[in-house]
Amino acid sequence: MFPFRKSPAFILSAIILTAVILVLALNKSGETVEAPVTAKIDESPASEKPDPGTEPAKQSAEVNSPSVQTDIPSLADTFKEEFFIGAALEPGQTSGLSAELMKKQVNMVVAENAMKPASIQPIEGQFQWEQADRIVAFAKANGMAVRFHTLVWHNQVPDWFFLDADGKPMVDETDAKKREANKKLLLGRLDAHIRAIVGRYKEDIQYWDVVNEVIEPADPDGMRNSNWYKITGTDYIETAFRAARDAGGPGIKLYINDYGTDDPRKRDRLYALVKEMLDKGVPIDGVGHQTHISIYSPAILNIIDSMKKFKELGLDNQITELDMSLYNWNDRTDFGDQVPEEILRKQAERYKELFEALKSNKGLVSAVVFWGIADDHTWLSTFPVERTEAPLLFDKKLQAKPAFWAIADPSKLD
Ligand code: GLA
Repeated sequence: MFPFRKSPAFILSAIILTAVILVLALNKSGETVEAPVTAKIDESPASEKPDPGTEPAKQSAEVNSPSVQTDIPSLADTFKEEFFIGAALEPGQTSGLSAELMKKQVNMVVAENAMKPASIQPIEGQFQWEQADRIVAFAKANGMAVRFHTLVWHNQVPDWFFLDADGKPMVDETDAKKREANKKLLLGRLDAHIRAIVGRYKEDIQYWDVVNEVIEPADPDGMRNSNWYKITGTDYIETAFRAARDAGGPGIKLYINDYGTDDPRKRDRLYALVKEMLDKGVPIDGVGHQTHISIYSPAILNIIDSMKKFKELGLDNQITELDMSLYNWNDRTDFGDQVPEEILRKQAERYKELFEALKSNKGLVSAVVFWGIADDHTWLSTFPVERTEAPLLFDKKLQAKPAFWAIADPSKLD
């Protein structure tokens, strides 16, 4: 294997050289590892701060092990009389620092992907429960509520749902009789999917997104022209809610979830659909407002007004996927490593405005769920383009940002 034989002297000098290089490298990394960024709004007056020179042991512990802040308020406690505070997570985040941060800050979780149709039933009849189970177990062990997301969606749904008995796409069928048979087959599959899942988790999960993103004002009749809609009209929505109620009983709460519900056009189409369904006795308990917003729009008042409208219909509201992009929707630029302070400040002011509006409208929402826990893990770092994003309350090192203080204790922002 080795083409050359080395003399003992050669081997000894190689060992010594390697050791010298290692020592130098270790020294260097000791100098450059950064301490975790502490809260941007520092509470302690300068005179009370320890002199780093007098506390060498503490300093080096901080330098070497990033940790979750334990000496800051808990959002879950702060809002416990008003609404749940939640976060989306992946199964891998049920341990480690993200898990510690969630244990401190939230009392509700939702699976970012693990409970979507493609994750749970990728092949007909073959349910994959492990990842979803991990999230449920984490929530139970820590006394957290769970939102299920989502029984029905047009994305992250496997193709097999929409193939006819011969394996051909149902949407291509032109024969009226066969179209009717396909519709029956699809609704039967949907019913079975929902009963299996709700049956398994009904004791552990109280809040359920039954359908996600079914409204699209630009599509015919304002309904998203998905495979679901093309094959069944709005029957899939009705089937889904009825199956969920039937399998889960009256104790679980069923939601219709969507983004952009602050936009009057979308809101009104959603309102009309929900009203039509309720009039038919379809069991809808609430509206999930995703609330993926930016530091520029929409107006907080529009978000609140939309929720008030659904409340008047007797429904609950939950904010289900809250995050706040640093960029305007049409902007594809990138702050890179240097997000300007004034941008983080603007984000904090907007979060403050939203939470103040929620507090002054007591009972308007029963939960506020963030789409992630910290900026180290957010879908917005790759969507709509890959770039620096910081839409959440904790930074990439899991330390509280101005936006956290804006919510937890706004007096710390001044
Ligand atoms: C939508 C879905 C979520 C998630 C986000 C982006 O809002 O409801 O499940 O996929 O898009 O990640």
